[in-house]
Amino acid sequence: MKSFVKVSAPATIANFGPGFDTFGLALEEPRDVIELSMDVYETVIETVPDYSIPTKKNAAFAAASSLAWKHRINTPFHMKIIKGVRPGSGIGSSAASSVGAALAMAVAMDNDVKDDELIQASSMGEKMASGTAHIDNVTASLLGGFTMVTSRSPVEVLSIPPDELPSFKIVVALPDMVLETRRSRAIIPKTVPIEKAVENIMLSSSMVYAMMKRDVPSIGKYLRDELILPYRKPLIPGYDRVQKAAMDAGALGVSISGAGPAVFAISDGGAKEIAKGMEAAFKSAGFSSQTFVTKPGRGAEVIEAR
Ligand code: HSE
Repeated sequence: MKSFVKVSAPATIANFGPGFDTFGLALEEPRDVIELSMDVYETVIETVPDYSIPTKKNAAFAAASSLAWKHRINTPFHMKIIKGVRPGSGIGSSAASSVGAALAMAVAMDNDVKDDELIQASSMGEKMASGTAHIDNVTASLLGGFTMVTSRSPVEVLSIPPDELPSFKIVVALPDMVLETRRSRAIIPKTVPIEKAVENIMLSSSMVYAMMKRDVPSIGKYLRDELILPYRKPLIPGYDRVQKAAMDAGALGVSISGAGPAVFAISDGGAKEIAKGMEAAFKSAGFSSQTFVTKPGRGAEVIEAR
């Protein structure tokens, strides 16, 4: 057993347009950094900055403990989570903490833990945070690049690593509001019209083809969603304006990141102008926002283990 492990795990864009609960894209920035210490008497998880989450209600606790218990390890631990990924913003905050926690625990246990087991354990964090154990964010945060869930039980995933993806910029706009994933999942209808389902099958299969062909304009073109986005849009004030502003400024495609409220655009240039346009559009809808520009990135990494 190791006594100290430090890892990092990236923010992610789940759904990536048409792939609800299926597609995920890891972002180069921001990342959570997780420090796990095992030589302690009591299990405590602290976050920096302090989000005042009780240890046993932290997604990271669910992820790390479910993995440890499965391996019959019940040792107390201390975890410090330096939150680079803002909670409740739609860019996979609970997933980054959960993946980081599970990976750190796996390294500390000195056991050979496979990716599907790490994804399964991390999904316990998602369940604690949002009520459902969706695995699109955690898969992308663990593996990096563009990921596709092909089966949830058993966990099976496919991925295109970041160095095989085309180069494009991602502009993310985070409005100053919190939207609970639980809430934006609750408004999704249980059944969908067949023609809308067909539309999304066309878009999602074309999206995978465009990723593999490294065809950035087509990635932008297929970044649409007929199934979920129409219901979630009303939860994000000014969404249509933000989308139009980004497209007018030269974006190739725009969508909601995960469960929102973050909105993202992809581009092959002019990212600063797009960010300015998105910010101004949120402002005209009554919300200040933070924007940043990033690109597809690598997955979770071990920084130190001793
Ligand atoms: N696929 C999930 C959703 C991601 O859209 O609800 C939540 O972060």
